[in-house]
Amino acid sequence: MQKITVKAGSDIALIKYWGKKDKILRLPANGSISMILDSLFSTTTVEFSLSLSADEVLIAGEVEEGESSRVVKHLDRIRSLAKSNGLIDKDIFAKVVSENNFPKSTGLSSSSSGFAALTIAASKAIGLNLSEKELSILARQGSGSACRCVCGGFVEWLDGETSSESYAQSFAGPNDFLIRDLVTIVSEDKKNLSSTQGHDLAETSPFFAARQQKISAKLDAVKKAIFSNDFITLGELVEAEALEFHSILLTSSPTILLFYPGTIEVMQLVRSLRSSGVPVYFTINTGFNVHVLTLPEYEDQVLMALKKLPSVQKIIASSVGLKPQYLEQHLF
Ligand code: DP6
Repeated sequence: MQKITVKAGSDIALIKYWGKKDKILRLPANGSISMILDSLFSTTTVEFSLSLSADEVLIAGEVEEGESSRVVKHLDRIRSLAKSNGLIDKDIFAKVVSENNFPKSTGLSSSSSGFAALTIAASKAIGLNLSEKELSILARQGSGSACRCVCGGFVEWLDGETSSESYAQSFAGPNDFLIRDLVTIVSEDKKNLSSTQGHDLAETSPFFAARQQKISAKLDAVKKAIFSNDFITLGELVEAEALEFHSILLTSSPTILLFYPGTIEVMQLVRSLRSSGVPVYFTINTGFNVHVLTLPEYEDQVLMALKKLPSVQKIIASSVGLKPQYLEQHLF
């Protein structure tokens, strides 16, 4: 059996996936839109072998029980698909080695790129030949946001009522709108709440129902702003969405407060740059690190201002990324 390595970019949700209508299938409460990032990525090598008696999973050089069992469950999905396609008749185990070029468990979506790379590499390694839509449906079951990261550019995840209707597709390419994301790291602490745990609390917020009422108009407005390269409209929508998302977190039961002092400093800096005429906006996932979005011609100015903040530890500047790629060079 072939050894396969895939590199997949992480993404930043412009309209967030938050809450699930089916926890097992990971059907989201609402559709979402993201852009794939080219400077934050996961690389994953998978090889199935008859000589293994169990799956071996190494993520970022560590064997971590929770993450490994999620990966093994995903390999089970891929094995059962291979069985129903007549490719294997008994379980065959895999060695999986995965690395991220950015800190994991800090709210920078390592599970989105990780499960996208795993899905593409493992399905190919076992002999399946899946379409992008089939890969997206499969990746979604490992980690919801991963369904977007099998695509490139600007991506929409259609919420769907059934598993076969809930997948992502790209609606604009990486060069259609040149946005820069300055991923601003104020801490590499491991966050104490996983996204999966957070999703379960979404409906406990009294604001969750109100969010659902307006979400499809918001998705349309964001797509329209991307199609017309209207950065100001896009930025206003995206920043307001990030704050709405965090207001759901803050008002869940129990409440979820993820911001660090540095997070607030970056948010305030973005707003003060904006008031001096710089087109720059922020968005934040389930974490304390901030995605600062701007246009290429303002990047150096924003970067310089961010670097002056004592709380900023590191900045990874990213463009919009391509879809995942196969690599010749394997991790083992
Ligand atoms: C805030 O995809 O990590 O980043 O499906 O439970 O694995 P699971 O959740 P996950 O949730 C991501 C939530 C988010 C918003 C987003 O990426 O859309």
